[in-house]
Amino acid sequence: MPANFPDLRLRRFRKTETMRNMLNIPFPEPSKFIWPVFVVSGTSKKIAIDAMPGQFRYSIDELLKALEPVVKFGVGGIMIFGIPESDKKSNTAQFAYSDNGLVQKAIIEIKKNFPELFIFTDVCMCAYTPHGHCGILEDDNIDNDKSIEILAQIATSHASAGADGVAPSAMMDGQIQAIRNNLNKNKFNDTILMSYSTKFASSMYGPFRDAASSAPGKGDRQGYQASYADLNTALLESKLDEAEGADILMVKPALFYLDIILRIKESSLLPLAAYNVSGEYSMLYATAKCNWGNLYAMARESIMALNRAGTDIFISYWANQLDKIITKKS
Ligand code: PBG
Ligand code: ZN
Repeated sequence: MPANFPDLRLRRFRKTETMRNMLNIPFPEPSKFIWPVFVVSGTSKKIAIDAMPGQFRYSIDELLKALEPVVKFGVGGIMIFGIPESDKKSNTAQFAYSDNGLVQKAIIEIKKNFPELFIFTDVCMCAYTPHGHCGILEDDNIDNDKSIEILAQIATSHASAGADGVAPSAMMDGQIQAIRNNLNKNKFNDTILMSYSTKFASSMYGPFRDAASSAPGKGDRQGYQASYADLNTALLESKLDEAEGADILMVKPALFYLDIILRIKESSLLPLAAYNVSGEYSMLYATAKCNWGNLYAMARESIMALNRAGTDIFISYWANQLDKIITKKS
């Protein structure tokens, strides 16, 4: 018994259901979730992603069907990832900012059908370049300043198709300022800019890279994504993006980085998103498949961990399964 609390017995709080309910910390509302979705061209396509049970690559018509129950349940937003066919990839990632691009068309259709759903788009080049890197590659070197010009064009093209928010994920220096300036210049002052501000070079993106066919052909992303070993630069990344004009900060991945979430939440007044990435999702599915744990109970517990650490917005593949995850008591 701790000396300062000689008479406190915590089990008193837990003894009756009424008291437990009175003290219950609720699971975050569906409105705080963003569901990441993968869009492919064509129609009637709903292609399973082997490493991510419950997630699919959708053609736009199928995505609209899949969104119906998700929107009905109250999920706040989506994050669109375009998966272009390989003949659409080029060194300058032109298809990423074409008016007839996949993401642009998806935004228009989704807005028509679900005007209230908040549409974020991922702004990057890796799915649009043959080499799979997040920037413009010249002689094995990523040209930062050329890359941020293209990223700014991609963001403005998404905004002009009707995206409510853009989320740049390339981890190029200065990308936030370049994107904000370009949005404003084109009168998209109201478009939300959610930065993937602290994005680590992580081994937890494997299932996503399969789903999006966006793995780098050669080399890795350590030249631009942050080192998970280094706390200081992880925090600096978010500070810089705040100074450049980000509206929302993000930590990605999420579950191995609760310390970073907590610190950024304490040191910034901006809203903070956590990206609960593909590997974090798949590992719970894999565990459940072996009968080593209850899927939705594990999902619930992991999301509550993000909530406790200070997450405001949950970017998570669980967003289309919240009906199974949310129980009255957490
Ligand atoms: C690419 C991008 C990645 C993710 C989102 N945008 C992967 C990467 O950096 O290779 C990962 C998402 C996930 O794993 O769920 N810019
Ligand atoms: Zn990328």
